Parts: sequence; structure tokens; C-alpha cells
Amino acid sequence: DPALIDAPSVLAWYDRHARDLPWRVAPAARAKGEHPDPYRVWLSEVMLQQTTVATVRSYFVRFTSLWPTVFDLAAAPLDSVLKEWAGLGYYARARNLHACAQAVVNEHAGQFPQTSAGLQTLPGIGAYTSAAIAAICFDEQVAVLDGNLDRVLARYYALDVPVREAKEELRAALQASVPQRAGDFAQAMMDLGATICAPRAAACMLCPIQPGCIATRQGEPTLYPIKPAK
Ligand code: ADE
Repeated sequence: DPALIDAPSVLAWYDRHARDLPWRVAPAARAKGEHPDPYRVWLSEVMLQQTTVATVRSYFVRFTSLWPTVFDLAAAPLDSVLKEWAGLGYYARARNLHACAQAVVNEHAGQFPQTSAGLQTLPGIGAYTSAAIAAICFDEQVAVLDGNLDRVLARYYALDVPVREAKEELRAALQASVPQRAGDFAQAMMDLGATICAPRAAACMLCPIQPGCIATRQGEPTLYPIKPAK
């Protein structure tokens, strides 16, 4: 069995260093029982699927000021949604966004389902997005695994095969590590992948899981993940 990720260290790091993002509830407020709004988390996750945090910020603020709730977005003409989406690319995402808002309003009385399985029944919400929303909004103890996490885990375990050959092992290792604060853990791991365990450079001295990281112990973490043979 692979060693677990040290979730208490990850959470302690996140409590100090969480990025301040407009769809988030800060760890301190979260600890007082404040929950992130599923509409805002869903919107941010769809926008972030192929677009960087830096670009998404202003789009997110614009969308939520035009359409503060899922009811507002569902009632908006598709044309205005597509127009505001311009620049984010992949217009199928915007069409799905609108269809999903309408499904939440018409089939779920405006309430997002509260489980990853329930969320996956909605248009445009797949395995990643459903897990992210369920963890962040409802603390479902589910692994939230995206491309950045693949890299973090490939390094942590010094994975000696390309990620695509070990997806299920990585998912199982992450799943076994998820603590009660599943939403903060998921977001902490994303921040870690974005800011510390970056693709070309790893700031291991700042990393809360450095003590368990096998690639760092070997000396050259950026050798991982191993590229697939062409
Ligand atoms: N990338 C995708 N989802 C994210 C989130 N919730 N926080 C930070 N980066 C992300």
C-alpha cells in the first residue's frame, strides 16, 4: 500500500496560505460553519476546466454580477451567456452551462444535488466536476483528481510509469488520504499543485508534504511524471 498523504499538514498549510479566490469561503469562515455556494463553485469549476485561474477571475466576477443565482442564469437568453463567455473558448461548455442551470431550476427546484453521484446526472458535469462540487460544498469524502494533482501524486510516489497507466492507483491513494475537511483538502491540493509543485519547478522547501515525497528524497522531483513513450 502506498503511504497516505499527510492531510493534517496539508490542512495546516491551507489555513495559512489558501489563495483568496472569489468563489471560495476562507478556511476561518468555513470553520465557523459557512458553506460555499454550490452555484458559484459549479460556475468556477466549469470555467476552470480549460482556463487558468488568472483569466477566470474577472469572468467569474462578471457572470456572478450579471446572474447572481442559478435562477438568473437559467432565465438569461443563451445568446447573452455565449456573448459573456467570449474569450474563454470551448463554447460547448457555455451551452452546457446554460442547460445545466435550466436543469437545476426545472428538475431540482433550483437546488444543486448534494452528492457527487447526483451532480453527475446534470448536463456537462462529469467525474471531476461532480467530485469537486461535492467535496467543496458538502465535504463529501471523495478524491478530487485533476491534471495538477496527477503531477503532485506522480512525484509524491515517484511513479515509475506514465500517469495514464496508473490512474486508478493514484485515485485510490488520494481517496484513502481524504480527511473530514474534504473540501479544504481538495482545494489545498489544487493550490499546492498550482503554486508549489509546479510543472517546471518545485518549491519543495515550502511544501507541507515534502517529508513523505519520494521524488524529493531521490533528488530531482521534476523528473516526474514520466512521459509516455511516443
Ligand atoms: N482549479 C480548479 N478548481 C480549482 C479550485 N477550486 N481552486 C483552485 N484551483 C482550481
